[in-house]
Amino acid sequence: MAIVIGVDVGTSGSKVLAVDEQGRVLASALEEYPLHAPKPSWAEQDPLDWKRAVIAALASVAQDLGGRANEVAAIGLTGQMHGSVFLDANSEVLRPAILWCDQRTAKQCDDITAQVGEDKLIEMVCNPALTGFTAPKILWLRENEPAVYERVAKVLLPKDYIRYALTGEFATDVADASGTLLFDVKNRTWHQELMGMLDIPFDFMPPAYEGPDVTGHLSASMAEATGLPKGIPVAAGGGDQAAGGIGCGIVKPGVISATVGTSGVVFAFAEQALRDPEGRVHTFCHSVPGKWHVMGVVLSAGGSLQWFRNALCANERAVAAETGADPYEYITAAAATAPVGAEGLTFLPYLTGERTPHKDPYAKGAFIGLSIRHRRAHMARAVMEGAAFAMRDCFEILREMEAPATEVRASGGGARSGLWRQIQADVNNAPMFTLNVDQGPAYGAALLATVATGAYASIEEACDATIHTVDRCDPDPENVKAYDYWFAEYQAAYQALAPGFRRVASRL
Ligand code: XUL
Repeated sequence: MAIVIGVDVGTSGSKVLAVDEQGRVLASALEEYPLHAPKPSWAEQDPLDWKRAVIAALASVAQDLGGRANEVAAIGLTGQMHGSVFLDANSEVLRPAILWCDQRTAKQCDDITAQVGEDKLIEMVCNPALTGFTAPKILWLRENEPAVYERVAKVLLPKDYIRYALTGEFATDVADASGTLLFDVKNRTWHQELMGMLDIPFDFMPPAYEGPDVTGHLSASMAEATGLPKGIPVAAGGGDQAAGGIGCGIVKPGVISATVGTSGVVFAFAEQALRDPEGRVHTFCHSVPGKWHVMGVVLSAGGSLQWFRNALCANERAVAAETGADPYEYITAAAATAPVGAEGLTFLPYLTGERTPHKDPYAKGAFIGLSIRHRRAHMARAVMEGAAFAMRDCFEILREMEAPATEVRASGGGARSGLWRQIQADVNNAPMFTLNVDQGPAYGAALLATVATGAYASIEEACDATIHTVDRCDPDPENVKAYDYWFAEYQAAYQALAPGFRRVASRL
């Protein structure tokens, strides 16, 4: 039986998974690398670090497969979206890649919006100009490093640089291309008119394929470096959100995933390129051919609890280090002892600004309503509730756009907490389901590779055969009522504080 491999070029490391046709994970490896912040709010990585990490992780998986490494039939790629790798005419990397979480391009976003008009931009490419997206990074390079810009021959997304390294081919996929702001998401092709308006050469961008399409084959040198068979096909794959959606089986209307990792992503399948006229959610091509997805992105969901653990839970961390437990177990157990609504304590999770729904890089985190009664347990609960409220903001917009949820699938590190699943079910008044598999985008990339081999006729068929729900958590009607009230307070708190966040940002 054929084995396929999924590669996820993530922000903290690259993950490689080997999966069989029934979706069973046979081997996995993770190789980490640093993220560089040469200036505040900048975020860069060396594409050669990704390459080294992917080769090492592929080699480790091939070794774990032993004799079965010969049965590997295809590779699928996914990775962090939006990042820009600038290559010269010899395909050498010109400077460190500028990442999705880099905030240096506020001016370029304002310039694009002023030149094109926000409504027109959303009409052309389905999305507004956001600092994380690729086009503003290209304009930043032209304005700030003109000597480097002069030498640019190709601009690649992170996983597509790895594709080039593995196969020697330049290609991308329609889902990842959607996050560049240069892609005609509705018609699934590069937006030549917009590229002309922004004076970005058309041949900077590689051809864009549907997720399961074959874009090249593993080169002899890479086969030797990794121990995998020479010439196996490499599928187009998808940006990490689309591939993560596939990895949760989000391939039909009504089934939505709520993923709590560092960020919180509410991801819905769409038959059409549904757009929010205000651009509060992203509309991208899906890795399901001919389909789209709409998603709300909360920048610090799990990231807020991680901040809370690091900043305020030294005790829990020390005890966990001694017992070998996970500090989150102690923190969430404490949170469970505090009542719904944390006795009037509200937390805004905007520790790194916010995309959905506010599109506000100046937004900040806050505890509101502290009293002498509040203990750390209340604060832990308020942080978990605040993240769930931020994700409810995403659900509400999807509802407005007529992409309502009939089934919500919990995924990411946050899905491991029963309390957090219950809070989300209560806050959204929708049952939360858990899945038999939660391997993230690499799993989706592997499933796209399975389709590329012909083992399944479609990605929907591959998902049906491999992914199913194993548990369900129903909303409690009393809690639903209580959270309706606290959610309104949460929304009002941001509105009241937003002008202050902006004022303070101008002083820092
Ligand atoms: C999606 C996004 C992140 C990155 C990094 O819009 O910015 O998910 O892809 O994971």
